[in-house]
Formats: sequence, structure tokens, C-alpha cells
Amino acid sequence: MITFPPKYVLANLPTPIQLAVFDGKQFLIKRDDFTGMELTGNKVRKLEYLLADAIAKKAELVVTCGGEQSNHARATAAACARLGIACKLFLWGKKTVKPEGNLFLDSVFGAEIEYLSKKEYFAFVENPSHYLNADGKNKAKPYFITEGGSDIIGIMGYVEAFSEMAFELKSNKIKRIVVAAGTGGTAAGLLLGAALCNLPVKIAAVNVLYNKEILYEKIRLLVEQVCEKSGLLTKSVMKNLVILDGYSEEGYKQITDEKMKVIASFAKQSGIILDPVYTGKAFFAFQQEFLKNHVSDTLFLHTGGLFGVFPKKQMYI
Ligand SMILES: Cc1ncc(COP(=O)(O)O)c(C=O)c1O
Repeated sequence: MITFPPKYVLANLPTPIQLAVFDGKQFLIKRDDFTGMELTGNKVRKLEYLLADAIAKKAELVVTCGGEQSNHARATAAACARLGIACKLFLWGKKTVKPEGNLFLDSVFGAEIEYLSKKEYFAFVENPSHYLNADGKNKAKPYFITEGGSDIIGIMGYVEAFSEMAFELKSNKIKRIVVAAGTGGTAAGLLLGAALCNLPVKIAAVNVLYNKEILYEKIRLLVEQVCEKSGLLTKSVMKNLVILDGYSEEGYKQITDEKMKVIASFAKQSGIILDPVYTGKAFFAFQQEFLKNHVSDTLFLHTGGLFGVFPKKQMYI
């Protein structure tokens, strides 16, 4: 059995599962972009558990990291503003005069930002304590949230999300969920949720940040840590993972014109916005691998990312 840690309610749950149509083909879409407004997207479910832990530990400063358009960083900044806790973000990117999208909102929510080069960023992810203690000035009691909120506390949000949709997955005979994968926590939580609910649903993760091998290992490590505590078997949980590789070859911060065309066309046909970093690439994979072939047993999980649209707005129209 998986024991859920305490959570602090931040998200509007349950999110709906809707019927959508693209190029004449119907499919089900779980709207985790409806978890909230400022707090939109998958990160909010993780933050409910992480920030409850931060509160329990009497944190005075929440520190996290991500790309300059990180949805996780923006959601953390918004949640900290709501809770009245200070927030510091280490972002991979450069300071600009006119920040857009998530980066703009980070400042609106009052987060302090420190910019890192790509090299510095990945060094930070490997060893945050080196940077956190660098100036030695900070007297506030910090709580560090790992990249994407993907640790064994954060991923409980997606164990819960799977349970939330279990009935609908079963009654619609869904065999597979397609989801964007950055740090892999969302996919790891879903895999554990499927095991907990005893539903043989495959989790098809579209890797947009790390290569297939690294992502697999990140997910396996998360799953293993929860399995060790809960008596589930890592191997049997992991057998439901499929990585749909090769859909972010242009790079994490880039997107091809071919994918943009699909995103723009989907917006016009459905009124649903996909972002250029995560959900757009995952949806493109979903279309290429399943929707084109009339696969009706596959659900698309919309994980948010709305504000990531604005820095790339000229590509949408
Ligand atoms: C909109 C969106 N979708 C999907 C993901 C991927 O989630 P995870 O990091 O848990 O793999 C992220 C964040 O990384 C995201 O911001």
C-alpha cells in the first residue's frame, strides 16, 4: 500500500476528462490545464504535497529551479505568494528587459530570480547544496524543491491523479495515457497509480528534456523509492512504461514548424491551447503514433503550460 503524505489544497480537482476532435478523429483528453489559473498545469498537483511538507518543516523560503520558461517555477512562485512564503528561483536563461510568459509571472508573484547558464544549471540540478550555501548570507529556513517537483513526495500528486481518473479509464476501456515527460515525475506517479489501482494502463511518456535512457532511469529511481516503502514491485510497475522517443530532437527550447502547424491547427479546431515545449510535442507524438491510426483506447493528458505560449506567440498565427 502507498501511504499518502499530508497535502495542502491548491488545485481545482478533479479535472474533467473531455471528448475532443482533431482532423475528424475523436479522443479523450484529461484537462490538467484546468487545475487552476495562475496555478495551472501538472506541477500544481505535485506542489500540493511538496508545500505541505515545506509548511510542516516550517520553511521560510522555498527554493527551486527550471528553464527560464519553467511552468514549475511559475507555479511554485504563485503558490508561495498564496501561502506567504518567500520564493527563490534558479533559472536556466538570461535576464531580459521584457520578460514574457512564465518568466514575467515569476516576478509578478514576487519571486527572487538567479539566472544560470546551461552548464551552471545542470551542475545546480546535480548538486544544489553547493549553490544554496554559496553566499552564506541567507538566514531564512529554506525548503528545496528538486527540478520539476519530481521527488517521492511530489509525485504523489500523480499517483492521486491516476486514482482520480481510474473509473473513467476503466469505463472507456483506455489502455494507454500519452503524457509529456520532462523530469519524469508525472509519468512515475501515473505508473504507481496504475499499479495501486491494479489497472493495466500503459504510460506513454514523450521525452522532451532528457534522452530516453536518462529519463527511463529517472523514472525507475522514483518508482523504486516508492516501491521500497510500499511493497510494490519496481519491475512490475515499470513494465507499463513506454517512452515515445524522438519527438524533441530540435531541443527542449525549440520546436519544428511541422509541430507548430499541428498545435495551431488543433487550437483552431478544438479551442484547446498546447504549449511549444511540453504538451505540443506530446500531442504531436500522440497524433503520429495513435490518432492517425484511429486508436480510440488512448487518452491524452494535457499537463498545462499555457504561459509558455507567449514567448513564441509569433509562431502560433
Ligand atoms: C506543461 C508541462 N507538461 C509536462 C511536464 C513534464 O512533467 P515532469 O517533469 O513531471 O515529467 C512539465 C514540466 O516539466 C510541464 O511544465
